[in-house]
Amino acid sequence: DWKMQDVMEEEIKAIHAAVGPDDHAICALSGGVDSTVAATLVHRALGDRLHCCFVDNGLLRYKEQERVMATFEKDLHLPVTCVDASERFLSKLAGVTDPEKKRKIIGGEFIAVFDEFALEIQKKYGKLPSILVQGTLYPDVIESCPPPGSDKKHSHTIKSHHNVGGLPKDLKFKLVEPLKWLFKDEVRAMGKLLDVPVGFLRRHPFPGPGLAVRVLGDVTAGDALQVLREVDEVFINAIRDAGLYDQIWQAFAVFLPIRSVGVQGDKRTHTHVVALRAITSQDGMTADWFQFEPKFLASVSAKICNTVASVNRVVYDITSKPPATVEWE
Ligand code: XMP
Repeated sequence: DWKMQDVMEEEIKAIHAAVGPDDHAICALSGGVDSTVAATLVHRALGDRLHCCFVDNGLLRYKEQERVMATFEKDLHLPVTCVDASERFLSKLAGVTDPEKKRKIIGGEFIAVFDEFALEIQKKYGKLPSILVQGTLYPDVIESCPPPGSDKKHSHTIKSHHNVGGLPKDLKFKLVEPLKWLFKDEVRAMGKLLDVPVGFLRRHPFPGPGLAVRVLGDVTAGDALQVLREVDEVFINAIRDAGLYDQIWQAFAVFLPIRSVGVQGDKRTHTHVVALRAITSQDGMTADWFQFEPKFLASVSAKICNTVASVNRVVYDITSKPPATVEWE
C-alpha cells in the first residue's frame, strides 16, 4: 500500500522532528493493535531510546498479563517491562461508582505509574525520558476533545478516553501520538507494513480503563471482577470456536450490579446477571449489534450458567451506537 508507506515515512520524520537526538521515550503497551503499532513505529524512529512497559492495572481479562507478556516475548521484538500495579489501582477505585470518576482515577494512576517507570529508566540510562508515546486514534480525539468548529453533536465530551481526556494538565511528558490522524483499519494497514504479527492486528479493541467500564458501579464490590473474567472467557472462546471472531469488531461481557432470582439444581438462587455485547463497526464511532444465530446464544448462555456458578441470568445487548455507546460506562 503505497499511500500507507508514505504516511509511515511522514510519521517517522515527524517523530524525529518532535524528539531530540538524546531524548528517551516511554510507551505503555496493552497488547492491543493501537499501542503495539504506535510502539513499533516509534521504535523504527528511535531504536533503543524507546522503553516499553505493560501495566497490570488489576482490570485486565482472564490470564491477560501472562498471555500478553508471552506474546510480546515470542512475536514482538521489543523489550517490555511488566509493572504489576493492580493493588494501587483497585484501592483507589474502591467505593467509586461514577463512570467519569472511575475513568479519571484510572487515567491519573496510569500517569503516576509512568512517572515511576520514567525514574527507573533514568536510573539505568542517566537521562529522564521526556516523551510519552500513546496509541491515540482519530476517533478517540474527536470523542474526547472535539476540534474547534467541529459539528455540534460532538461538542461536548462523550467519554474521557483515558489516553486523551483523562491526562492531567501538568503532564511532565511531551506526548507523541503518531496514530492520531488514523482510523482503526488504517492502523491495521500500517501494522502490516511494519510486520506486526496478525495476532496483534486482529485482536478486538480493549479500552484503556479495562474491566472498570464493564463492571457497572464499584469495580471492587464482591467477586464482580472474577465473575466477569470467567464469563468473558467463556463468551470469547465460544466466539472463536464458532469461527466468528474476525467478523466481530468487539465482543465482551458486562457485570451488572443487580441480582435476579433463578432456579439452579432445584434450588432458588438470588444471584448475578451478566450482559453480553458484540458489535460490528468500521471505526468505533458508530456500531451495530451483531446478529448471532439463536442457537449460538442459547448454547453460550447455558455454558456460562453451567461454568460460572454464581450467574443465573444472561442477557444480550441489542442496542446500536448511537443511541448506546459500545462500552456500558
Ligand atoms: P464507546 O464506549 O466510547 O467506545 O462507544 C468506542 C470504542 O472505544 C473504546 N474505548 C476506549 N478505549 N480508552 C481506550 O483506549 C478509553 O477510555 C475507552 N473508552 C472506550 C471502546 O472499547 C470501543 O472500542
